Amino acid sequence: MTELGPAAWPPAPIRTERLVLRESEARDRAAFIELFASPEVGAYIGGARPRDELERAVPEVPGRRPGLFVIDLDGAMIGMITLDRRDAERPGHVRPNAGEAELGYMFLPQAWGCGYATEACAAALDWFTDALPGEPVVLSTQTANDRAMRLAAKLGFTEVERFEEYGAEQWFGVWSSVTSSG
Ligand SMILES: CC(C)(COP(=O)(O)OP(=O)(O)OC[C@H]1O[C@@H](n2cnc3c(N)ncnc32)[C@H](O)[C@@H]1OP(=O)(O)O)[C@@H](O)C(=O)NCCC(=O)NCCS
Repeated sequence: MTELGPAAWPPAPIRTERLVLRESEARDRAAFIELFASPEVGAYIGGARPRDELERAVPEVPGRRPGLFVIDLDGAMIGMITLDRRDAERPGHVRPNAGEAELGYMFLPQAWGCGYATEACAAALDWFTDALPGEPVVLSTQTANDRAMRLAAKLGFTEVERFEEYGAEQWFGVWSSVTSSG
């Protein structure tokens, strides 16, 4: 894995009680398109993209890169989790040289309200702790995004600051395996 450090990518599929976190495959393409075309999913993250544009632009195997986990329920993709390095130019940092690992999450609306995002993110944070022990993880979300805010709190993220970005108030928080019970 180049972006996140020395950990091998992809890891072996990670199994939780109900889910599998795994690398993306060609069979996930339709679910990727659903995610990016959904007005509900896009409500607080820049909006939905036109489906016909996605049908043209999305590659045969979408999202195959270090840090991107497809979340699989009974053999079908229900969402994705990303761990990427946060751009130094953006507001919100906890390290002097920036480049923190940042958690992102997007699930299909039909999978909301079941605790799947909590279960999958907790497993991704566990994996990250093993791969890069002691490194903090950051997260930012619009304060208006109630579901994302509740999820961040459940996972053990704590507020660092709030700021304006993309014309909205953003919540910026940090999580650390050293201070979190997991
Ligand atoms: C953010 C997002 C992933 C949260 O999804 P979610 O399903 O609400 O999150 P959780 O997995 O934590 O599920 C929590 C809900 O499941 C319920 N639940 C049901 N069964 C459960 C179980 N077995 N375990 C835990 N929670 C359970 C909880 O009570 C809670 O319900 P509530 O929302 O009515 O309080 C989702 O809304 C999303 O994809 N949004 C669009 C993309 C986005 O904005 N991403 C954030 C960018 S920063």
